[in-house]
Amino acid sequence: MTAEIINGKEIAAKKREEIAKEVEKLKENGVTPGLAVILVGNNHASRTYVTNKQKSCQELGMHSILIEMPEEVSEEELLGKIDELNQDPEIHGILVQLPIPKHIDEKKVIESISPLKDVDGFHPVNIGRMMTGQNTFLPCTPYGIMVLLEETGISVAGKHVVVVGRSNIVGKPVGQLMLNQHATVTYCHSKTKDLKSYTKQADIVVAAVGIANFIKADHIKEGAVVIDVGINRNEAGKLCGDVDFEEVSQVAGYITPVPKGVGPMTITMLMYNTVKSAAESSN
Ligand code: GUN
Repeated sequence: MTAEIINGKEIAAKKREEIAKEVEKLKENGVTPGLAVILVGNNHASRTYVTNKQKSCQELGMHSILIEMPEEVSEEELLGKIDELNQDPEIHGILVQLPIPKHIDEKKVIESISPLKDVDGFHPVNIGRMMTGQNTFLPCTPYGIMVLLEETGISVAGKHVVVVGRSNIVGKPVGQLMLNQHATVTYCHSKTKDLKSYTKQADIVVAAVGIANFIKADHIKEGAVVIDVGINRNEAGKLCGDVDFEEVSQVAGYITPVPKGVGPMTITMLMYNTVKSAAESSN
C-alpha cells in the first residue's frame, strides 16, 4: 500500500482564505484583529518562527506588533509588558514565544496573559475549558491536526488514537481533542514499554516525540492514519519528522509529510484564534 499524502500546505492555504474573508468583515465593522508577539533573547529558531507569524498577519491584513526583549530582561519587566498588552484594545492576541530564559518563571508568564487574549491556548483556564469541551482558544498545533483530519474527511469518532508524546503543547492536548470528538485515546511516551504493541493497534497515530525517524513501518497497522508532528534534522542536516516517511508511507493509509504537513497548520490556527478573539471582543 502507498499512503495518500495529507497536504498541510494546501489545507492551510484554504483555511487562510476563509480567515482573510473574516478579517475583511471585521475591518468593515471597524475592528482590525491584532496580535502581539513577545520574543525574549536571541534564539535563532524562535526568531524564525516569530518572523513567520508576523508575515502571516501581514498577508491576512491583520495588525501585528513584535516586542523584542533582551535575554537578561527581568521577570517583572516582562510581566509589566504583558499587563500593558492585556489592557490594549488594539491587541486581541498575545503570544510569548517559548522557550524563555530560565530565570523567568514560564508558568507565571503564561498565567499573566489574559485568558481572553491567550491565542496559544496555554493558559490553565483555557486548558480547563478545552478539557470540559467548552468554547475556548484551542492550542494551535493540536487544533491544526484536527482540521487536517476533518478536511481530509477522516472522522475520529470510535477510532483508536495512539498519541506518542505527552508535552503540554502537543501530546496532551491533541489526545484531549480526539477524546472530545469521541475517539478512544491511548497515550504513549518515552517510558512506555513495548511501544509497538500499542501503535500497531492504532487507527490513527500522532507522533510527537521529537526524535528523528523514530516511528518505523513495523509500528504501524496497514491502512492507518499517521500524523507526524516532529521537526528534526537527520544526520545529513535535512529536515525530517518523527516518522520514517519512506518506510511508513508504504504501510499507512494516510500520512502527513515533513515539511508541508502539520507545520503550516500551526500558524494558520494562531491566525484563526486571533481573529476569533477580535470577533468576540467586538460582540
Ligand atoms: N514555541 C514553540 N512552539 C510554540 C508555540 O506554539 N507557541 C509559543 N508561544 N511558543 C512556542
